Amino acid sequence: MKVVRSPKQIQEIVRKIKKQGRSIGFVPTMGALHPGHLSLIRGARKDNQAVFVSIFVNPIQFGPREDLSKYPRPIKKDIALCNKEGVDFIFYPSFKSMYPDGFDTYVNVPGLTEGLCGKFRPGHFKGVTTVVNKLFNLIQPDIAYFGQKDYQQALAVKKMAEDLSMPLAVKVAPTIREKDGLAMSSRNKYLNPSERKDAVLLYRGLKLARNLINKGNHNCVSVINSVRKFLKQGRTISVQYISIVDLKNIEPALILKGKVLIALAVYAGKTRLIDNIIVKI
Ligand code: PAJ
Repeated sequence: MKVVRSPKQIQEIVRKIKKQGRSIGFVPTMGALHPGHLSLIRGARKDNQAVFVSIFVNPIQFGPREDLSKYPRPIKKDIALCNKEGVDFIFYPSFKSMYPDGFDTYVNVPGLTEGLCGKFRPGHFKGVTTVVNKLFNLIQPDIAYFGQKDYQQALAVKKMAEDLSMPLAVKVAPTIREKDGLAMSSRNKYLNPSERKDAVLLYRGLKLARNLINKGNHNCVSVINSVRKFLKQGRTISVQYISIVDLKNIEPALILKGKVLIALAVYAGKTRLIDNIIVKI
């Protein structure tokens, strides 16, 4: 396995791999790797002849009051994990090499990024699609892997790839959870013991919604209110949003029919957590 810092060098490597006719699987990450990331890497390993992982805490997707400076960066541990998973190349660029002075081109997928998290994190998805576009250009994957945990992100990336005719497939893999159901996240490290205890309520709240729907409650407002009430048990929890939306366009689902996404974002103390499930009616 090789760790490559320079964009120019990664392009040279990609050129060689392409010449050899090997397929490229790519997993973009911000590091602090956990089993959720590793499941994507395993998927990439299974499907492809060469596996690239990027580790880059992308400043342009963080808001001014968000956790950019304290975001965990355990690079040595991440390199060891990638090595163990059989990754071929880690792309670990510096900020300057990705955003040199004068950088001024952005990619935006407005329709899919205005609702859910987009409403509360202005500019976030523009930062994501811009960096993912750059990474796709550098690494030229055949298949790129994303997690359902960040459903809206995966959808925006898929739409970008489609709209801009990018010659690649985007695969979305299931959310990996702790034993008690909490979706794994690099941000779970921020939680103190009482916040960590309350954090189990997110997935339980989503399952409550699924049960209510399965039992025949097809009234969105009533289902959402039940989840809101349920989450109130957590003293450290404050809800940002709970939404039931169409899977394809993430517009609020007016009638519960077919498949819907139930998504929520909460603060546990000062830490923002998200989760979602897909429910078939
Ligand atoms: P990061 O939060 O590091 O996540 C990298 C990838 O891992 C994303 O596709 C995310 O959805 C996936 N992932 C995170 N937790 C997961 C879990 N519990 N189960 C399954 N997959 C999980 O998402 C980003 O980085 C960035 O926005 C990025 C796409 C790298 C652009 O900067």
